[in-house]
Amino acid sequence: MSAILSSSAPHEDEIKRRGYASLFQKHTVFLTGSTGALGACLLYKLATQVPTHKIYVLIRGSADLAIRKWKKAMPVQTAPILKSRIVHFVVGDMTKPDFGIDAAVMEDLRRQVTLVIHAAAKITLDADVAEAVENNCLPSLEMARIASRFRRLKMLVQVSTAYVSSFLPDGHVGEKLHSVVAEAGEKGEDEDPEEALRAILRGEGFPYTERFSSTYTHAKYLMERLMLKRFPTLPLLLVRPTIFGPAVRDPYPNYAPENSTPLNKFGMLFLASHGETQTWHAAEGYDTGANTLDEIPVDFVANACLLHAVAGTQGIVHVGSQLFMKVTLDEIMQLAYAHTPEDYRNPLPTVHFVKDRSIPQCFLADLVKVGSRNWLFDCGRSFWLKQLGGPLSLAACQHDVDRIKVKRAAEIFERVPRTVKL
Ligand SMILES: NC(=O)c1ccc[n+]([C@@H]2O[C@H](COP(=O)([O-])OP(=O)(O)OC[C@H]3O[C@@H](n4cnc5c(N)ncnc54)[C@H](OP(=O)(O)O)[C@@H]3O)[C@@H](O)[C@H]2O)c1
Repeated sequence: MSAILSSSAPHEDEIKRRGYASLFQKHTVFLTGSTGALGACLLYKLATQVPTHKIYVLIRGSADLAIRKWKKAMPVQTAPILKSRIVHFVVGDMTKPDFGIDAAVMEDLRRQVTLVIHAAAKITLDADVAEAVENNCLPSLEMARIASRFRRLKMLVQVSTAYVSSFLPDGHVGEKLHSVVAEAGEKGEDEDPEEALRAILRGEGFPYTERFSSTYTHAKYLMERLMLKRFPTLPLLLVRPTIFGPAVRDPYPNYAPENSTPLNKFGMLFLASHGETQTWHAAEGYDTGANTLDEIPVDFVANACLLHAVAGTQGIVHVGSQLFMKVTLDEIMQLAYAHTPEDYRNPLPTVHFVKDRSIPQCFLADLVKVGSRNWLFDCGRSFWLKQLGGPLSLAACQHDVDRIKVKRAAEIFERVPRTVKL
């Protein structure tokens, strides 16, 4: 397994020499989660920016409902997606066996699909661990089982999260499997993920769940291990993004679906505190929030997924701020003070950092458990992507980034009164 986890991408040199466009012509894609933040961005790119052969999208309910969701998130971009005529709807539900897909449609998928991108998820941070596993582990295993019967499959991209390693201490986090059991100081064998899964589904829980930032990240941790264990020969890429931020370019600058860009939500809650004094724990080794709060524009996550998919990268890749720019918790809080609109009538909060972790934090700091941590997510396997241009480029100029910051702050201030009861 370790050889796969660290091997390079077979098409890296070809892409550097000739570009990536022609590689998409060979692909028929099965995309899940296309009505979500990342999935919609992936769909826009596959349908309008690269010459993809065909796209099947798994959607719940009906095509009309999916189109309504796309139009809400991407008012101008939905028409070009539909006009591409390469998008085909597959009605289903990832919590059902075979995703509830009609047998004849499944046979079409088996014959044609070369690339699967599984971006669907149900992210509920307060679910119990069994529910989190049902939503974010079992569907991925079913996806892998389905994909393993696709005759022309070249790659399954499974979207995970960098916070599967949230039990680690602050510092460097490598692009590999880290063991919560080893980290807890247990000697001997690593945990058996099958046994952990059975215990969780029997309602017995798992002794180390508390060490993760949430049950959702624990479920994704288990998912990664089970995928690699059960499907060792499947061409699989586990993409671990950090926190999604507003898009730099696509489908349009500042694209940021409200429930899927956590720091926008954080900004709203931060501002809605009636000018109270908030106590926050300083990151280990610092006096304030000088820790990196790792965010990456959602369109850069989509670009990295697509480039690695056609490059044939397998194993685990992080997609985080090392590929964009580093921002600290202090800087995120200062954004609010720097961009307060003149007519904003609520007093801003005052933040008080403490080094003594036995002092209780404010409610918001407790909610955003990763806020005062300082993991440095290694993105080394994606550095070569930064050499590439075109619609999947990971380059951003300072001017664009500054413009996005200003617009973002304005949007957050504007949303405070209508999203939070004051
Ligand atoms: N947001 C972040 O900051 C972040 C960070 C790191 C990793 N991730 C990961 O990135 C991926 C995409 O996240 P996101 O924020 O784009 O998610 P999202 O906006 O919440 O979208 C979730 C998508 O999954 C679909 N879905 C949910 N339950 C389904 C079901 N039972 N059957 C079929 N489809 C279903 C939803 O479809 P409906 O429209 O039908 O509900 C929607 O299209 C996830 O794997 C997530 O864990 C997210």
